[in-house]
Amino acid sequence: MKLIMLGAPGAGKGTQAKRVAEEYKIPHISTGDIFRANIKGGTELGMKAKTYMDAGQLVPDELVCDLVADRIQQDDCANGFVLDGFPRTIPQAEALDVALTKIGQKMDFAIDIDVPDENIITRMGGRRACLSCGATYHVVYNAPKVENVCDACGNALVIREDDKPETVKKRLDVYHEQTQPLIDYYTKAGILVSVDGTKNMDEVFADIKAVLGK
Ligand code: AP5
Ligand code: MG
Ligand code: ZN
Repeated sequence: MKLIMLGAPGAGKGTQAKRVAEEYKIPHISTGDIFRANIKGGTELGMKAKTYMDAGQLVPDELVCDLVADRIQQDDCANGFVLDGFPRTIPQAEALDVALTKIGQKMDFAIDIDVPDENIITRMGGRRACLSCGATYHVVYNAPKVENVCDACGNALVIREDDKPETVKKRLDVYHEQTQPLIDYYTKAGILVSVDGTKNMDEVFADIKAVLGK
């Protein structure tokens, strides 16, 4: 099972990708999480990515494409993987196609989690993130058992740098301009499925499972 989670910032890509990864026992590959781990670790990649991320802009394609091409060729991806936050430009989608063709594979589904901009702003204000394991919470919709502590790994939860309202607005603009064209791209490829992302998390997950099958 090889799938892409598409959707605006805050649509629930990370939330659903984690559940899909668990259910189907495939790795969850989030480029945002990879960059945040690199920023935390003070690597060169992290330093390069941080300026773009804090401004709500996309990191240049050349910093992302090779990284993902390498990642999907690792052994744990043999039975599939779920991509979260990649591709998010047409050149990235083309680079992914090239990388997959080389290993004789193709994506099975691109799932677009559809949520209007108005709902996004509210969601982002309540998000809390674990920078150690990538888990995501919401103070109202998905609260951790202990306030500000990650259920999964026990580390402290933080508000992401790019979740300030001004930056969220910028990220939405970037999404509409550069990422939304992928809906057309994957419709033409015949693998796009849209799900209503305004439902609650369990309902969205059930809709995704119905698409993926057993
Ligand atoms: P990335 O980390 O991918 O951020 P994003 O796309 O902006 O998406 P988010 O992680 O903010 O949202 P999400 O859809 O995962 O939602 P979540 O599940 O957390 O990228 C960050 C930055 O890195 C980019 O801006 C860019 O600079 C760079 N980058 C990354 N990949 C790149 C690439 N390929 N190319 C170039 N640059 C790249 O949910 C959001 C909140 O809502 C949570 O609090 C959650 O609990 C809650 N929630 C989720 N579902 C529901 C629901 N159904 N009902 C109510 N609340 C819900
Ligand atoms: Mg995410
Ligand atoms: Zn954690």
